[in-house]
Amino acid sequence: MKILAINGSHRGEKGYTQFLINKLFAGAARAHAECETVVLKSHKINPCIACRACHKPDHYLKCVFDEKDDVALIFDKMRQADVLVFATPVYIFHMTGLMKVFLDRITSTADSSVMTTSDTGLFFHHIDKELISKPFLLLTTQDNIEDETSKNIEAYFRTFSSFLDAPMAGVIRRKSGVLVGHGHDAQKELKYPVVQQIYRSIEQAGFELATHRRLSKKTESKCNLPVVSIPFPVSMLLKFKTFRHNKPFMAKILAKVKENAQNQH
Ligand SMILES: Cc1cc2nc3c(=O)[nH]c(=O)nc-3n(C[C@H](O)[C@H](O)[C@H](O)COP(=O)(O)O)c2cc1C
Repeated sequence: MKILAINGSHRGEKGYTQFLINKLFAGAARAHAECETVVLKSHKINPCIACRACHKPDHYLKCVFDEKDDVALIFDKMRQADVLVFATPVYIFHMTGLMKVFLDRITSTADSSVMTTSDTGLFFHHIDKELISKPFLLLTTQDNIEDETSKNIEAYFRTFSSFLDAPMAGVIRRKSGVLVGHGHDAQKELKYPVVQQIYRSIEQAGFELATHRRLSKKTESKCNLPVVSIPFPVSMLLKFKTFRHNKPFMAKILAKVKENAQNQH
């Protein structure tokens, strides 16, 4: 079992995203999986220039940058992997530009003139299934506390999953990175006892990824626990726009959330 993580953080190995990938891999290692991370920021990755050379007969499915940057090499690693992890911080409500620039390069491996259907019954075109049609886990990191923050990334990867016949093995959304010190500040972590439980769940997620190629619903939901708790029944009320749009109500809740964020124990 080979698991390959693609890390789209500009902080690379020093970032929170890598810290969480390492937790995931600690669990996968217990199941004897072979784990590797490609840190995109450490590689040369040219953006697709839409030259369409990859669709012409003399350069068919080859990118003009194949010998000039590292993408072909990373694609080879992806072909050899059984499971992929796409890991990215949220940058202004989306994946990092680095991750997107990398993913855009998949276009050179597909022939868009050959029409076909996906396993989910969508009309699409030829793709390189060996490269991309494999289970993947989505891991996002962010500083904000709201799950809503990463919804564009999730929507992107759900579409990616259904067109590219790549089963989604699970989604880990880690929130409140700044409150818990991005994995580098034990004092901040100590303020939030749930954090250690979350990190243990991420290790369990790695184990499940290696053994079952997907996360159980129970583990997935434990990985996604909030750090800052919004007390019941307020959390229920916040599901309704009427309450979210009520400014005096929200001002009170904000004060409570800030207090909770400071005095968790
Ligand atoms: C350019 C930039 C944009 C960001 N945008 C958001 C955002 O929209 N929402 C959010 O919650 N965090 C945002 N963040 C914070 C990062 O998502 C967060 O710190 C993440 O844990 C960083 O992961 P890393 O340490 O692996 O780079 C942003 C950070 C940067 C540098």
